[in-house]
Amino acid sequence: MQRHIAVLAGDGIGEEVMEQALRVLATIDDLFGHTFSTTKALVGGAAYDTYGTHFPDETKNVCRNADAILFGSVGGPVSEMQLDKWKNCEANSILAIRKAFGFNANFRPVKIYPDLCELSPLKEDVVGRGVDMLFVRELLGDCYFGEHMSGMEGSLRVASDVSRYSEDQIAAVADTAFKAAQARRKKLTSVHKANVLDASKLWRTVVHEVGISYPDVELEDMLVDNCAMQIIKDPSKFDVLVLPNMFGDILSDAAAVLPGSLGLLASASFNKDNFALYEPPGGSAQDIAGKGIANPIAQILCVAMMLRYSFGLSEEASLIEKSVETVLKGGFRTKDIYRGKGSLVGSREMTDQIITHASSVLCKSS
Ligand code: IPM
Ligand code: MG
Repeated sequence: MQRHIAVLAGDGIGEEVMEQALRVLATIDDLFGHTFSTTKALVGGAAYDTYGTHFPDETKNVCRNADAILFGSVGGPVSEMQLDKWKNCEANSILAIRKAFGFNANFRPVKIYPDLCELSPLKEDVVGRGVDMLFVRELLGDCYFGEHMSGMEGSLRVASDVSRYSEDQIAAVADTAFKAAQARRKKLTSVHKANVLDASKLWRTVVHEVGISYPDVELEDMLVDNCAMQIIKDPSKFDVLVLPNMFGDILSDAAAVLPGSLGLLASASFNKDNFALYEPPGGSAQDIAGKGIANPIAQILCVAMMLRYSFGLSEEASLIEKSVETVLKGGFRTKDIYRGKGSLVGSREMTDQIITHASSVLCKSS
């Protein structure tokens, strides 16, 4: 298969974990006889240095000409936040790219393998049954894209961000979430605050309307505050969750620590034509950048997600995911998931292990 990928490594650990993820992509390319090509483009602070903007047209064009976007991370060190290079860098890059390509649905899978529950901050009896949930977060509505205002009311400073949803926005993400649930354990939890907010009342109603076309999926409503509690108390009961932008941002991060580290998770953002961007939700981690110790697994799993969802290559995707799982079971640990046992390895060594495993599995089976 021939496919072209826009590679936007960004800032901080972005560059070094992307390098590792591309090594895995090249391995899959070789093992399965595909022809993947890549074009690198700048985003975030890295783009600002060259173009004076965080998401330049040059980068947009590279993305436009690609079959999928592999994204690293953006953002600067805390000590340099006042510099123009880093001011609003994340919002200017990430929100702009979401808007430019109409990425309205964000998939964040959170999985804890029973064999790896020692890595979770939760007790073994809570996560021991296995946690496998998929957050489907709406990305283009809510207070992120409603009217923003900062001003004065008499002598008082005031500010507001309008949380707005239209029914078509809700219906689109709900439809995506129902389809995802159909392909999994057929349960969907719709998260909102319909006991208070009008936007949530509309959310609840429209999700139920869309649900009529998916009678095989069990739909439950859950208030966001209760949901926050349940994610910690009993995460194994969730399958797919569909959430408005803001609640999705917060709860998907809360859930992301359950497997043990943000460095273990991938995410994908889709538009209505199924064009997608794949990014680790973990951020640029400037404090450990350049040391070769960052966990490359999140970025590597982004490659797996891209192969599965954008290119329909599920065998290749599963091979990467299984290799990651085996290497973790084998006790290999980057610093973020090292708990005093097993082998402490850097980004490159972790990737070497994953590549070696993937290659040996395929050689054995062929
Ligand atoms: C995320 C991030 C972004 C968001 C920020 C950086 C704009 O937190 O992708 O979850 O809030 O959506
Ligand atoms: Mg976030």
